[in-house]
Amino acid sequence: MANGGIFRRKSVAQIQSEHEHGELKRTLGALNLTLLGIGCIIGTGIFVLTGRAAADFAGPGIMISFIITGTLCAFVALCYAELASVLPVSGSAYSYSYASMGEVVAWVMGLLLILEYGLAGSTVAVGWSGYLVSLLKDFNIIIPPELTAAPGVAVKDAAGNVIATGMMNLPAMVALLAVTALLVRGVTESTTVNNVIVFIKVGVVVAFIGIGAFYVNPDLWTPLIPPQDPPPPPGTATDVFSQIWSALVGIVTGEESRFGVSGVIHAAAVIFFAYLGFEAVSTAGAESRNPARDMPIGILASLAICTVLYILTSAVLVGIVPYQSLDNPAPIALAVNEIGLGWFALLVKIGALAGLSSVMLVLLYGQTRIFYTMSRDGLLPGVLSKVHPKFQTPWVNTLLVGLLACFAAGFMSLDALADLSNVGALTAFGVVCATVIYLRFTSPDLKRPFRVPLYPVVPILGVLMCGLLLLSLLTRSDHTRTFFLGYLAIGMVVYFVYSMRSSKLGKGILVTGHEAQPMELPHKDD
Ligand code: ALA
Repeated sequence: MANGGIFRRKSVAQIQSEHEHGELKRTLGALNLTLLGIGCIIGTGIFVLTGRAAADFAGPGIMISFIITGTLCAFVALCYAELASVLPVSGSAYSYSYASMGEVVAWVMGLLLILEYGLAGSTVAVGWSGYLVSLLKDFNIIIPPELTAAPGVAVKDAAGNVIATGMMNLPAMVALLAVTALLVRGVTESTTVNNVIVFIKVGVVVAFIGIGAFYVNPDLWTPLIPPQDPPPPPGTATDVFSQIWSALVGIVTGEESRFGVSGVIHAAAVIFFAYLGFEAVSTAGAESRNPARDMPIGILASLAICTVLYILTSAVLVGIVPYQSLDNPAPIALAVNEIGLGWFALLVKIGALAGLSSVMLVLLYGQTRIFYTMSRDGLLPGVLSKVHPKFQTPWVNTLLVGLLACFAAGFMSLDALADLSNVGALTAFGVVCATVIYLRFTSPDLKRPFRVPLYPVVPILGVLMCGLLLLSLLTRSDHTRTFFLGYLAIGMVVYFVYSMRSSKLGKGILVTGHEAQPMELPHKDD
């Protein structure tokens, strides 16, 4: 097979040359990159999923779940930061894989990012729909409940009584169609708009923490971890190490219990969604003024700020409302209503809607970028990188992404969407951590302006923790497991039947139109 077969790699020079031909202006500094990260991170995860994860799996232990996932994301972020400093270009994990482990891994990474970004866009749209329905209700505008949830999903009133069974989530679909139209017209968010929205979002979250703290009832924090349901067999040791061990065994065997230590770990996998987006900073490499210095700062600072906000928000949330009542489409607004501040609940809803709109836009935009790059590399059909003559946007690609996301949001439940997005992202992040180890072995002399501290402990822990949370999602749900494995299997067939043969790298074509010269990173055994 020409050019190294399925493990053929792009060179750093080649990737950089592809981006040097871009028209993007280098305007972003460390502060704007941090705000970009926060803009992508804060969304449906904290505004919606926190409540469900507390009600169904962790109880007040949701605070511990946020610490577990925040720690994992810090490990992954450090790995992203090292790769971003070696390859300071747009394209994120897909480009890193193409330059290190080769084309077939890059293809799998592309498949995973499609789950992460595409379905995350749908997940956020469903969260948006929950806040919209709640806001409209405040003005006595009622959308028929059947049209506010996916088929088969129970729609509940504020008191938790089931009032209807969903047929489709119409508001989520309309929101995604609107975002798609904006993207086709080429309306992406400007840095200034992003900064304003970040300000509103962070303002709402900080105000919730600041005001809510005065209404916390510490009794609601105990027991921190509600007892496992159903209880373990009589005679099971109850010390903390035995509990952790049996939780790990339970995760591997797919035990369907709620609460207890395994509930806290499962909740950590569910609210992993809340952290997605910190790596979006790495996609802005080509627009960054000093990427080697500023990208690690942007990634790590946005993650650190959101982790602190999340732990405090979840502590206040479960301190105001008994965790059993938090399975609600707009739990933060519910908590604010609980303390009798109706005006503030209104502000929370408006802030959440603005914030979630921007996350939807960024996620769908990210997805179109991934399709675009894969299409320019010849791994997906060329029509996906066709640019509209007037709007200068990849319009076919954008329409396809928009329609798929719209369909998923209308007909899949929030839990299924969030779980699949988490599964895609956890696998992708595990590969990113492994890539750091792989490159240190194969290309030890590469210039690395940022190096992961405590190497190799950090990337190894990153791989292990991603694996654990991934297992927790896959073993508990047959649907998630079947969909994920089926999706990867179909993806591999497409690669061997189509993408491998049409790959431009395979044909020796440099994407910028020049002859491909060195194809690989300087490799130890080359
Ligand atoms: N982290 C983003 C959210 O929670 C994707 O909506």
